[in-house]
Amino acid sequence: MTTASPTHAAGPAPEPDAARAAIVCTGIRKTYHLGRVPVPVLHGIDLSVGRGEVLAILGSSGSGKSTLLHLLGGLDRPDGPSAGGGRENARASIDVLGTRITEAGTAELDRFRARTVGFVFQFYHLLPELSVLQNVLVAGMIRHGAGIGRAGVPERARGLLEAFGLGHRLRHRPVELSGGERQRVAIARALINDPPILLADEPTGNLDRKTGETILDALMEHRASTGRTMVIVTHDRLVAQRADRVVEIVDGRLATPGTV
Ligand SMILES: Nc1ncnc2c1ncn2[C@@H]1O[C@H](COP(=O)(O)OP(=O)(O)O)[C@@H](O)[C@H]1O
Ligand SMILES: [Mg+2]
Repeated sequence: MTTASPTHAAGPAPEPDAARAAIVCTGIRKTYHLGRVPVPVLHGIDLSVGRGEVLAILGSSGSGKSTLLHLLGGLDRPDGPSAGGGRENARASIDVLGTRITEAGTAELDRFRARTVGFVFQFYHLLPELSVLQNVLVAGMIRHGAGIGRAGVPERARGLLEAFGLGHRLRHRPVELSGGERQRVAIARALINDPPILLADEPTGNLDRKTGETILDALMEHRASTGRTMVIVTHDRLVAQRADRVVEIVDGRLATPGTV
């Protein structure tokens, strides 16, 4: 089997070794099924993301970027040995900060999703009935993470929203906000429990260039102040350029940008 291994862009960051990696995945395959028709999307992904690294995963629409990000965040599972891949899939694994999520049971995976990763989606996924502040609070109350206990959640939520320039919007509903403002709320929500890893799926994909830049600025500022690990999925090369390193999904495998 020839598996393209991810290589780094012209930037300074090399592929991290396993000891420094926040995420290591090996031999990941994913096939959807439309009725009886198998739709193979990922054909053997090997990828490492270093601790504190900002990695961009570039790819055209439909290339499998969201699929891969969902697998990394434990929102979905890769093909197992029984999914038609036979013995090849037996070696598929995803390790995230010491948890082998490909072998985690449902309860462990729930804990992992609550504590280890924050998700930012292209279309925000805010709850329309709730205010800006409530949207962030709900995520914190469900999980009450960040080592602050339940009592500290409202203060942290306000602090995050103020840091993102939304202090004057706390009681507004999402529908009253611009796209860029909604996405900043979604980022605050993703960060409420201080997850060590932020996974962002086309966080600027629905925004104009200038607004998208402010979202990327907010994400990079988060990394600068916390040293947290980020994976940003995008179809936009200009967005990818902001990352420390870029890998590209082509035909279900990872490649070096510019070589395909
Ligand atoms: N739940 C699903 N069932 C069937 N096919 C799917 C499903 N989700 C995604 N796909 C297909 O998998 C491919 C990759 O999708 P996706 O990961 O969303 O790509 P991207 O995020 O790069 O646009 C597409 O062809 C898409 O139609
Ligand atoms: Mg997508």
